[in-house]
Amino acid sequence: MKKFSESVTKSILTGVQPSGVITLGNYVGAIRQMAKMQEEYLSYIFVVDMHAITVPKDPKELHQNIRSLVALFIACGIDPEKNFIFLQSENEYHANISWLLECNTSFGELSRMTQFKDKSKKNVNFKAGLFTYPILMAADILAYDVDYVPVGIDQKQHVELARNIALHFNKTYGDTFKLPDVYITESQTKIMDLISPDKKMSKSSDNEKGIIKMLDKPDVIRKKIMGATTDSECLIKYDPLNKPGISNLINIATALSQYSIHDIENMFEGKNYGDFKRFVAEIVVQELSVIQEKYYQLIDSPELDKILDENIDIVRKIAKDKFLLMKKRMGMYR
Ligand code: AMP
Ligand code: TRP
Repeated sequence: MKKFSESVTKSILTGVQPSGVITLGNYVGAIRQMAKMQEEYLSYIFVVDMHAITVPKDPKELHQNIRSLVALFIACGIDPEKNFIFLQSENEYHANISWLLECNTSFGELSRMTQFKDKSKKNVNFKAGLFTYPILMAADILAYDVDYVPVGIDQKQHVELARNIALHFNKTYGDTFKLPDVYITESQTKIMDLISPDKKMSKSSDNEKGIIKMLDKPDVIRKKIMGATTDSECLIKYDPLNKPGISNLINIATALSQYSIHDIENMFEGKNYGDFKRFVAEIVVQELSVIQEKYYQLIDSPELDKILDENIDIVRKIAKDKFLLMKKRMGMYR
């Protein structure tokens, strides 16, 4: 039984790629925001395995990444009692709705998607699914009549397309979809790479030492933080422009504790970088240990399947009703 607070009146929807590595940057900049938003919005959160296969994927790896992502999200505070968390491919109505939308989207409009242009340039042998990807995303969104779609700026064009498709469908066949609004979620706190603190900590980084992964063991985390790039001053001061390494460590510490920047500058006045790094490392280890403990309890547990089974029944019913309404509007019935 879901326990929504009375203040929850609007809904949001987020699809997440099962890409394998989740970093501390993803946690601070995205997952924790989602956990906060669940208090205010009815939230649909799903693993977009059907979007993942628009580029070649190793089946065994994809399977592991899907399960791991769900377990990690729940371990990070995405509360299954407050969200609909599910696997996209287990709700076949997304694909059904997507086909009806494909037949109502102009080729020209779809050809303008910049992400497709970028991705198709990188691999000339791209598959048709890479091109129609934004229509499946529109189906994900429009199936649930959500109010807002929180996405990074790179996905804004896709949400606008979903809105246009809905507008056009409503005009042609009568009111069928709620028009979703895009909600840009650029986090104020960017966690930077530990080795190259001038760039964002990213799962696609080619230097492992610069990124903290959510499932890194405590000793690995300590080693990475102790090896973080700093500067030759011996001054713990927040100054992202001139002291990007130290400022990044301060950001990490303040994001994961009650301390403010000012507290940390005061606590470490006259102390050396080694002491400061040990302090930051313990804050990160403490936060991630709790998450990892929950993760390992869940990953092979039937509890995880129970959560997904319960949710899929609810969301399938919602999407099925939308699919049937679309078919009816389009004259697809006996
Ligand atoms: P990505 O891993 O680039 O696909 O990003 C997924 C989400 O995590 C987006 O909402 C990003 O804004 C957020 N994110 C990724 N890396 C960082 C980072 N280093 N600091 C803060 N937020 C991040
Ligand atoms: N395309 C999004 C991405 O690559 C993932 C996604 C799929 C999504 N369906 C969605 C995001 C629906 C928001 C809403 O990150």
